[in-house]
Amino acid sequence: MKLTSEERAMLEGTSGRAARKAMEILLALGTIYGAERMLPVSSVQVAGVSYDNLGEAGLQFLSEMAAGGGKARVPTTLNPAGMDIENWQALGIEANFAEKQKQVIEAFASMGILTTCTCTPYLVGNLPGYGEHIAWAESSAVCYANSVLGARTNREGGPSALAAALTGRTPAYGMHLDKNRQPGLTVEVEACLAENTDFGALGKAIGEHLETLESKPVTYIRGAQSATLENIKSFCASLATYGGAALFHMEGITPEASQVTPPEETLRITQANLEEAIRSLNDAEPQEVDFVSLGCPHLSIQEIARLAELLRGKQVTKEFWITTARPTKQMADRMGYTQIIEASGAKFAADTCCVVAPIQGRFKALATDSAKACYYAYAKNKFKTVFKPFDEVVKEALF
Ligand code: F3S
Repeated sequence: MKLTSEERAMLEGTSGRAARKAMEILLALGTIYGAERMLPVSSVQVAGVSYDNLGEAGLQFLSEMAAGGGKARVPTTLNPAGMDIENWQALGIEANFAEKQKQVIEAFASMGILTTCTCTPYLVGNLPGYGEHIAWAESSAVCYANSVLGARTNREGGPSALAAALTGRTPAYGMHLDKNRQPGLTVEVEACLAENTDFGALGKAIGEHLETLESKPVTYIRGAQSATLENIKSFCASLATYGGAALFHMEGITPEASQVTPPEETLRITQANLEEAIRSLNDAEPQEVDFVSLGCPHLSIQEIARLAELLRGKQVTKEFWITTARPTKQMADRMGYTQIIEASGAKFAADTCCVVAPIQGRFKALATDSAKACYYAYAKNKFKTVFKPFDEVVKEALF
């Protein structure tokens, strides 16, 4: 790879041990993927924050990078942690886990990384512009950044995203290049898309088809008349989970759709396909549900406002987690939504989520409106799932 003098100096250690290690990681990655050069990035999102996923080896790596003088060169945010740092006891997290999780957050903070921990960084100030090169981890956020914002990022892993933060660089390959952003499959949607669950089911149906193809093409999607921010974040999470997609174009909705040509090869998604996807995510009986969670990806303030409306004056009968970014929770505090929601017995779980928290074995069945949460509830925790629209999930919590 051709490096600039500044990049070569980092590789030689003039900016410290951590920057040298970071540049070595990026160089190895760029060499594997045939990148010719590095690109400057304007924003980073780091994953691998929950101690439940990192373990002791991950914590040690972060501590070494911090001790080696690592400092973020561009605005950098974090993925959800394994607990709400202010409310972990109420969520049943054990003290020794909490201690380790705090050490992880402190290591990131000492590297100048913003320790708001969310999978929706674009809702809380980490909002790159169209065409900007960035290095984000967290598959749902990557899909949102590429497709909805028109920024350019590969699906980074925890170490490569951290390396990008400490150097301000990423290798020029994959989604950073025009040629890889062209669609290879048109998807005609002939189904009604109203709720987040419809968009989640659509992501599952398309994603599972992509998994059967060797080429994993970028999709050009037609037939969605409109989509709210919340619909699209659900869709991104699902398409990335079930199909590993980092980018799609949606006619009339995403910014690059008007600049590309829809391919002839076409996949049709009918109402029956959507209903089958929804059915496949409902393997629990309503009476089995003992855990309810909304906020995968993290809830927007509009969703929290709706939740407050639905829970006002009511009492929940099950463990109910509302997962969101801390700054969004702070807006909810100011608006009085938090008070209404907490009076119902539901619990805020800020900067964490029901997938990255250490809750294996605690529950039998989860009710959620997120197709992604259903996938991991089973894959990670072996929970059964009930997959329903937002308002109906709230009814499950009251039932
Ligand atoms: Fe976010 Fe956790 Fe879902 S990271 S996308 S809430 S699995």
